[in-house]
Amino acid sequence: MLTHTTILDPVVDTTLLFDGHSKELYQDSLQKAIEYVKAFLDNDSFYSGISIDELRQKTDALSVQNDQTLSLDHALAQIKDLYLDNAISFHNTSYVAHLNCPVLIPALVAELISNSVNTAVETWDQSTSATLIEQEVINWITTAFGLPKTADGVFTSGGTQSNFMALMIARDHYAFKHYGINIKENGLNDIVKRFRIFCSEKSHFSIKKNAALLGLGYNSVIPIPTNERFEMEPEALVLAIEKEKQKGNIPIAVVATTGTTDYGSFDPVETINAIAKEYDIWLHVDGAYGGCYVLTDTHKHLLKDAQYADSITIDFHKTLFQPVCSSAFLLANDDHFKYVSHYADYLNPIENKDNEFPDLIVKSIQTTRRFDALKLWFTLKVAGEKTLAEYLETVHYRALDVYDILKNDIYFETVHQPALSTIVFRFKALGIDNESVHDTINLYIKNSLFNSGTASVASTKLNGKVYLKFTLLNPAITVDKLQDIIGWIKEKGLTYQNIN
Ligand SMILES: Cc1ncc(COP(=O)(O)O)c(C=O)c1O
Repeated sequence: MLTHTTILDPVVDTTLLFDGHSKELYQDSLQKAIEYVKAFLDNDSFYSGISIDELRQKTDALSVQNDQTLSLDHALAQIKDLYLDNAISFHNTSYVAHLNCPVLIPALVAELISNSVNTAVETWDQSTSATLIEQEVINWITTAFGLPKTADGVFTSGGTQSNFMALMIARDHYAFKHYGINIKENGLNDIVKRFRIFCSEKSHFSIKKNAALLGLGYNSVIPIPTNERFEMEPEALVLAIEKEKQKGNIPIAVVATTGTTDYGSFDPVETINAIAKEYDIWLHVDGAYGGCYVLTDTHKHLLKDAQYADSITIDFHKTLFQPVCSSAFLLANDDHFKYVSHYADYLNPIENKDNEFPDLIVKSIQTTRRFDALKLWFTLKVAGEKTLAEYLETVHYRALDVYDILKNDIYFETVHQPALSTIVFRFKALGIDNESVHDTINLYIKNSLFNSGTASVASTKLNGKVYLKFTLLNPAITVDKLQDIIGWIKEKGLTYQNIN
């Protein structure tokens, strides 16, 4: 038991603290960790295929609750067995499931630096130059979008948080501008409960989830039908806005998704922007998936009118080869951050508000926040914007290649020409009419490929039917490899048919 004494030397063992005394230990420890991570890269498959029961047993056997400490070597060996041998490898080209990208080495170097220094981007006295680096990276991306000089932004934990900020600011701004209601001070009232948000039926679920978190409820989100390319129908948007007005509800915002999660489709931002301006409602562009394509020659025209948006979500951890987290929320008018800002005497007193030292905490819904901007700064410096754009164009072209292969194969049904780097399709066993049998076969294919560690393919539903989905984010993937994965899918589908 420690007691309160006044002695000169520390009474506790501080060997493991990262400080001037532990430089050798730091270097040796990281070197050892690097060897383990290098070995992880040698795993043949994207996943060991281990069962959840075996993983539970391992987790229990290596429980942290027995208060026994280990040497670093021993702990590394344990974490290899429990985690590194069984983690999903997003760099493995057999992984084509979700929006997880392989990461770039400069970003990992930056991550090591910022994690070790442990900067928290909150107030100037905690983050100094990190504040300026974050602002510099935000300026780079607002310029890429052509946002006005009044624009600003902040790094967030991901697209879900960025979309939350967009809807919250849209709600509070509309309430204040049109009704003089100060939600930050007084909370919601009956008028706010009539607020309505419009987005395509294919938009990300975080729009609904966030509307609920904001006290507006799922039903405040009005889904707008899409065309055969899964893009929002602007005429349907106008009809829906008019219909809600007739019901006595109050349209406040429209979300244009640029890169829907399943189809990569881009809502027509130009027309949606004109409608938003006509009705004087907030335009949010959810570019979590497709926003980074503003850097490409192939897609930048689709994002041209994002410059007129009130806010934008962009996820660098989806499509700019950054480790999680790396995401930004951009606002066309930095004054609107006032709906988020708070001044605390102990941290960022109000009297310092306009001094020359920026406190980025006033732009965030978080308090302690990671210095994620450094990864992107490093990536831009070392890899460069052009290389990143080429990677994005490459994965788009690979998706088009997959489309060409599948649409010429009688065993597959495709539903769209890829707009970005996803492709949704379905294995069709010949001679079977029953759609639910096809659903079962497609789920069997997905699960058996995953469980055997062969390939990770996603699934989704369209009109109630199960489809498979590739999300391509690895520029190292080849057409040959894609053909292999398609071959494995076919093999599993035919096997199922033969044994049932
Ligand atoms: C269009 C879109 N918006 C938002 C999100 C949420 O992003 P995050 O997972 O970074 O919270 C996603 C995630 O897939 C997405 O596809």
